[in-house]
Parts: sequence; structure tokens; C-alpha cells
Amino acid sequence: MGHIDVNGVEFSLSDGRVLLSDVNFRVGDGAKVALIGANGSGKTTLIRMISGDLEPDEGAISISGGLGIMRQFIGSVRDESTVRDLLVSVSPKRIRDVAANVIATEDLMHLRNEERDQMAYAQALVDWGDAGGYDFEVVWDVCCTEALGKSFDEVSHRKVNTLSGGEQKKLVLRALLEGPEEVLLLDEPDN
Ligand SMILES: Nc1ncnc2c1ncn2[C@@H]1O[C@H](COP(=O)(O)OP(=O)(O)OP(=O)(O)O)[C@@H](O)[C@H]1O
Ligand SMILES: [Mg+2]
Repeated sequence: MGHIDVNGVEFSLSDGRVLLSDVNFRVGDGAKVALIGANGSGKTTLIRMISGDLEPDEGAISISGGLGIMRQFIGSVRDESTVRDLLVSVSPKRIRDVAANVIATEDLMHLRNEERDQMAYAQALVDWGDAGGYDFEVVWDVCCTEALGKSFDEVSHRKVNTLSGGEQKKLVLRALLEGPEEVLLLDEPDN
């Protein structure tokens, strides 16, 4: 079950311009709703308020169900992140948290490699399994195979910036659609 409720939302930009005023709508369970408006009319800002990145000046937003988010510029990743990082970034918080710990402890093991570092890494892998990380890797394998024609093992360390913009979006869309979240916010899911 999931829903979004937006009630009386107002939002002004830092220069005082009123961007959103008296915004009210409800997206009920199972509904697919498109938000259409001119460039700069405030769609991404509204999505950022629903996702909790921004606070409305007035009004209230409530949602039920887990939230998955595809951000507007997901198709233009230009940093050093990998395919694995991208898939982790659109996963539920519990997966993001344990994934960060696996990487941090693995780095420390390679840098210092004391017994406590090996223990910490082993524990991080146990936590990854307990959080369902290996189940996510099975789903990511399906996503990579469908979006990129390669297995997750083959592409997990590949830099996202070597994928085309369309491939990046397709991969994230696939992962969100296969994922567990009841509510998906997709900002320009044009693939
Ligand atoms: N941090 C900011 N400071 C100043 N202006 C901002 C800021 N963030 C957004 N804006 C302005 O708010 C307006 C709405 O931006 P927003 O990104 O929500 O539009 P949008 O409807 O998603 O547009 P698009 O269709 O181009 O994606 C724009 O005029 C933008 O320039
Ligand atoms: Mg936008």
C-alpha cells in the first residue's frame, strides 16, 4: 500500500518569487499520475519536497509506503561512481547503509589490514546478507542484463559515466520497477 497527500503547499524561492501556491492533490494506492508543466514551473521542486529534501513554507505532505526516487539528472552522471554505486543509490536506506559499510571496511582492510579490519569486513558482509543485499544483487543482475546486455558481475565496477545517458536511466528505471518500494517518484523517466 502507498499514497501521497499534498495539502496547501506553498513555496517561494530565495529571491521572494512565489513558485508554488495552494498545491493540493492526492495520489492513491495503485494510481499512476503524471505531473506536466513548463520548464521551471516547479515540478522538480515539488518532487524534492515530497521526497523530504526540501521543506514547504506552508502546508503539509504525507506519504505511506517506501519511497523510490529517480532524480531528474540521473542520466547525466559524470563523476567517478560505478554501476554498483548507482544501483545502491536507488535502493532502500537499509541497503544503502550496509553497502557504505562494506565499502568502508573493505577499504580499511586493504589500507591497514589488521585482524580487527578483517573482522570488521567479515561482519559487514554478514550485515549485507542479513539486510537482503544478496537478494538485491540477484535483482540487479536482471536489471543489468536487460538494460545493458551484461551480467551484474561484468558491469558492477564499470564507471557510470561510460554508460550513455539513456542506459543510465534505463538501468535506474528497471531497478526501481523491480524494487520493493510502493511509491515511485520519477523525474523525467523518458526511457
Ligand atoms: N536553489 C535555487 N535557487 C534559485 N532558484 C531556484 C533554485 N532551485 C530552483 N530554482 C528555480 O525554481 C524554478 C523551478 O525549478 P524546478 O527545477 O522545480 O522546475 P521544473 O518544473 O522541474 O523544470 P524542468 O521542466 O526544466 O525540469 C526554476 O525557475 C528554477 O530556476
Ligand atoms: Mg525538473
